[in-house]
Amino acid sequence: MTSPTEGAPRSELVLPRDEMLALAQRAAELIVHRLEHLPYEPAWRGGTRAELEALFREDAPEEGRPALEVLERAALEVLPLASRVDHPRFFAFVPSSATWPGVLADFLCAGHNTFQGTWLGASGPSQIELIVLDWFRDWIGYPDTASGLFTSGGSAASLDAFVAAREAAGAPQHATVYMSDQSHSALIRAATIVGIRAEHVRKVKSDDYFRMDMEMLARMVVEDRAAGLNPIAVCANGGATNTGAVDPLEAMADFCAAEGLWFHVDAAYGGFAVLTEKGRQVLRGIERADSIAMDAHKWLFQPFEAGCLMVKDVRRLEAAFSVHPEYLQDTQFGHEQPNFSDRGLQLSRSFRALKVWMSIQTFGLAAFRRSIAKGIEHAEHAEEYVRASELLEIANPASLGVVCFRFNPRNSGYSPEYLEQINTKVQARVIETATAMTSSTRLRGIYSLRFCILNHNTTWEDVLGTLQAIERFGLEAIAE
Ligand SMILES: Cc1ncc(COP(=O)(O)O)c(C=O)c1O
Repeated sequence: MTSPTEGAPRSELVLPRDEMLALAQRAAELIVHRLEHLPYEPAWRGGTRAELEALFREDAPEEGRPALEVLERAALEVLPLASRVDHPRFFAFVPSSATWPGVLADFLCAGHNTFQGTWLGASGPSQIELIVLDWFRDWIGYPDTASGLFTSGGSAASLDAFVAAREAAGAPQHATVYMSDQSHSALIRAATIVGIRAEHVRKVKSDDYFRMDMEMLARMVVEDRAAGLNPIAVCANGGATNTGAVDPLEAMADFCAAEGLWFHVDAAYGGFAVLTEKGRQVLRGIERADSIAMDAHKWLFQPFEAGCLMVKDVRRLEAAFSVHPEYLQDTQFGHEQPNFSDRGLQLSRSFRALKVWMSIQTFGLAAFRRSIAKGIEHAEHAEEYVRASELLEIANPASLGVVCFRFNPRNSGYSPEYLEQINTKVQARVIETATAMTSSTRLRGIYSLRFCILNHNTTWEDVLGTLQAIERFGLEAIAE
C-alpha cells in the first residue's frame, strides 16, 4: 500500500490534497467574512422565480469546472439570495444564529460521513449523543429514565412523539389529539402523518393570554369520549410561535395524568430557555411532560438541522420504533448500546449532537445561559419601549423572546381596517429597506407586527433602531 500522499488518486472523484485544503480554507474565509459583515448587510435578499431561473437554469454539465469557481459561485451568488436568519436584526419568524464550533461540527461530520443510525455504525458519536441528551435531561429536570434523539427539527420531533403517544395508547381507532388554537402547524402535520383525521385534531380555544383554556379542553375530551372517539394526547406550547405564550403546563400535566393521556410539550423554539432563571419559572411543569420537542437550531445557537425529542421514559419511544430486520442483526448490542434508529424515523442519520457538544465545550454553558437571557430581556425592553411610545401599541406582552405590537398613535381613533392598512405598509417597508426583517401575524384577527429576538449577536441598539424605523414608517404611511 502506498501512503496517502503518494500514487495516483483512487478515483476520478477525488481532488488533489493541496486543492482540497485550499478550497476548505477559501470556504472558511468566505463564511467568516460573511459573518463579520452581516450587521452591515441587508437582513434578506431574494428574487422572483423568473429572475432566478434566468440566473441559474442550466443542464447538469457533462464535464467539470474548476472547483474554486464552483465554490465561489455557490458562496457569492447562490447562498446570499436568502433571508439572513442569523442577521442581528432578523426578528421575523424564528431566527437561528449558529455558533462557529457548531458550523465546524457539521463540516467535520460531513467529512467523516458519520452514519449515526446504529451503535456499530458510530459508537463514539452515539455515546456523545447520549451524553448531550443527558445534559438536556438534566436541564429539563427529567428523571434518569429520560432520553431521546436528535432529529431534523421540531416538526420531526413532534412527529416521533405522536407515534410514541399513539402506540402507548394501543393505536386505537378514531384517535383524537388536542392542542391550542395557537399551536404550530407542525403539530397538525405530524398528527395527519400518524393517521389522525383532520377533524380529530382538536383545536382548543386559548384564553386572553393565548394559553390553552383548560375548561374547554376538559369538556372536549368528555364529549369526544361520549361520541366514541379515543383521545390519546394533549399538546402544550412551551413558547407558542405567535406570541411566546406558554400553556398552563402544571394544570395540563395534572389533567393528562388523571385522564391517562400522553402529554407532549412543543418547546421547539422556547425549550432551551430552561437554562435561564426566567425561562425555568415560565416553563415550570415542563418536566412532567411525557415528551418534549426542542430545537437546538433555535435558542441553542446551532446551524440547521438540530431538532431534538426528549421522552420521559425512553423505553416508550423505543417500543414504538424498534424494528430489527435480519440484515441489521449484526448491529444489536443490547440496551446499553442503543441504536438511534430504534428511537425515530431515520436509519441513515447524521451526527447532529456534535454541534451542541462542541459549542458547549468551547464556550461553556454559562455563556449560553447569558445569551438566552439576553433575548428574553431584549423582548421585555422592547415591550417597555412600545408601552412608552406615543406611536406604538402593545398587542401581546413579551414572552420568551417574542413581543407583538402595532403602529397606532395614542388616541388615534383609527378604524381597525385603516390600522391594518397602515401596519401592512409598515411591514412592507421593513422588507423593502431590509435593514431589519420582521414578520407579521394575526392575534384574534388583528394584524400585528411581531419580533422574535433570539440571536446571540443582537444588541439593544439593533432592537431600538428597528422599533424607531417602524415608528418612522408608520408616520410616513399615514402621511401618504
Ligand atoms: C413552536 C414551534 N413548533 C414547531 C416548529 C417547527 O420546527 P422545525 O421548523 O424545526 O421543524 C417551530 C418552528 O419555528 C416552532 O416555533
